[in-house]
Amino acid sequence: MLRDPEKFIEDSVRAIRERVGTAKAAVAASGGVDSTTTAMLGKRALGENLTVLFLDDGLMRKNEPESVTDFYRGLGLVVRLVNAKDEFLAALKGLSDPEEKRKAFRDTFYRVLSRSLEELGAKFLLQGTIAADVVETKKGVKTQHNVLEQIGINAAKAYGYELLEPLKELYKDEVRQVAKALGLPQDKVGRRPFPGPGLSIRILGEVTEEKVELVREATSIVEEETENFRCFQAFAVLANDKATGVSESGGRKYGNIIIIRIVDSTDAMTAVPSEISWTLLERMRNRILKEIPSVTRVLYDITPKPPSTIEFE
Ligand code: XMP
Repeated sequence: MLRDPEKFIEDSVRAIRERVGTAKAAVAASGGVDSTTTAMLGKRALGENLTVLFLDDGLMRKNEPESVTDFYRGLGLVVRLVNAKDEFLAALKGLSDPEEKRKAFRDTFYRVLSRSLEELGAKFLLQGTIAADVVETKKGVKTQHNVLEQIGINAAKAYGYELLEPLKELYKDEVRQVAKALGLPQDKVGRRPFPGPGLSIRILGEVTEEKVELVREATSIVEEETENFRCFQAFAVLANDKATGVSESGGRKYGNIIIIRIVDSTDAMTAVPSEISWTLLERMRNRILKEIPSVTRVLYDITPKPPSTIEFE
């Protein structure tokens, strides 16, 4: 835990201001606590010289692009919504290996970002990378989409801008302390993490538009039903396989498999499956089967991290 979040804010704001001066900068923000906190630090340091870039990759949750950009505008931030859905889908097409998918996502993310920065005339990019992202990427567990310099990719050389990562030494619980001290509302401070590559890593195997729709629907059911349940993350995953079932008329039905994953954690480095009530599990199962008729099987993941990770890919 941070001893003095106010001092952290003061030091970060000063460091950003010293490095960027009167130049233009952008922050890549998704609505999550890490990037929103980074955006708020950037705004304090740079005012209107900071633009929030929200990349709509088509892999987010229901209504996310609209609700997040509205929220940012409400905070007085200058926001630009970049529609890059087709570009991301095209980049992921045909890929089923998790690391290949992550790298394709990362490359597309930075390509679209570079283009947007150029359009804005911004030379600096602020990004909400946190300590856990760096640790896991360096260990080779998985390629987090936002980790570059720590694995030897020089952003200035590779993408033409300088990178600032004010939160890169903090863990999630510390970021939340800073978010709170910055006056962000509780629902944003305590917001459950959502991975940068979004639903693409919750679709095992190849990503298609149809699968994104399916897992988006299941995610929204799990999130709605667990709204008042205390946990670190709660989401749905679409398996890369099918299972035999029976239709209501008694015929064979070969359908999709949805896995529900709910975990407790403080820093995302370790996690345990949540002891959720059977009633709540049944409610989610009933809604998934009813609202997504192509699903024939719903599973609950009981694996801790380690040996698993929180996400499936
Ligand atoms: P894992 O799956 O590694 O996840 O146990 C740890 C935490 O990180 C989130 N996560 C990501 N966040 N970019 C992010 O910004 C990524 O590429 C990424 N991959 C995983 C995950 O949701 C969990 O909270």
